Amino acid sequence: METVLEGLLTTVAVDGETTRPARLVEAMRYAALGGGKRLRPVLVMETAALFGRTDDGVCIAAAALEFIHCYSLVHDDLPAMDDDDMRRGRPTVHKAFDEATAILAGDSLLTFAFDAIAHDSVHVDPLVRLRLSRELARAAGMGGMAGGQMLDLESEGRERSEQDIRTLQAMKTGALLRYACRAGAILADASEQDIDRLTRFGEIIGLAFQLADDLLDVEATPEMTGKATGKDAEAGKATLVGLLGVEATRTEISRLLAEAQEILSPFGEKAETLSAIAAFIAHRDH
Ligand code: IPE
Ligand code: IPE
Ligand code: MG
Ligand code: MG
Ligand code: MG
Repeated sequence: METVLEGLLTTVAVDGETTRPARLVEAMRYAALGGGKRLRPVLVMETAALFGRTDDGVCIAAAALEFIHCYSLVHDDLPAMDDDDMRRGRPTVHKAFDEATAILAGDSLLTFAFDAIAHDSVHVDPLVRLRLSRELARAAGMGGMAGGQMLDLESEGRERSEQDIRTLQAMKTGALLRYACRAGAILADASEQDIDRLTRFGEIIGLAFQLADDLLDVEATPEMTGKATGKDAEAGKATLVGLLGVEATRTEISRLLAEAQEILSPFGEKAETLSAIAAFIAHRDH
């Protein structure tokens, strides 16, 4: 994944472009390379592999999703949003460059994702590429990740019900993880029934993923996570950890993991890696 991302993020302008300003590409590379667990692209690739597809086109589709994720982090860290100075163990993009460059690097990573997902190698059938493109837009946009970020910011310092928190988390974090699992299945021409199964798997691990992130904010150190911790309570973020406490959150994560692994059971040994990824997501320490 590192090689694929690196190869795509160059200063060489392609057909239809004029020039790619060096500083902008440098900031995009800073945001996207050298760090990050690459969970979303790994999920795309492993889900596609479950249905028998492992070629380079899958990696390009996976990279498209990682570009969206990296953009979301750059903007999430901006002073107007979570106002964070550290990410992946290094200064955030607006600290290493400046705010305007960080905004533009985020914009450019977001748009570049749609360039990547439209790549010929992603799928022989242009209708499948169109489907993925639309699904990616909806996962990332107003009714998905960006919408969830809006709800997250609106909820700061306000009382929120458990259901409200689950909805906002399903959007801000869950939507991209859900898409990752759907995309892999779609890329590999899985049946609609299997796409639905993997969608449910993605939704469940998406929730577990954000619960684990919220737990880490309470329990981990910045050395472990590469970002500031203890910030959610300080900012008055609406989290399940804040509402229900650490123990109840841990119990919920274990319940979600069991449910996710149950969904994979019909696939038997073929789904071992995906099952291990789900366990990593639930019990991660970074
Ligand atoms: C962090 O995501 C942001 C959230 C959605 C909670 P990751 O924990 O996947 O971040 P990286 O890519 O590994 O840095
Ligand atoms: C971020 O959630 C979700 C995104 C869409 C980026 P957080 O704000 O909890 O992520 P961290 O803790 O900054 O990585
Ligand atoms: Mg945030
Ligand atoms: Mg944040
Ligand atoms: Mg967090």
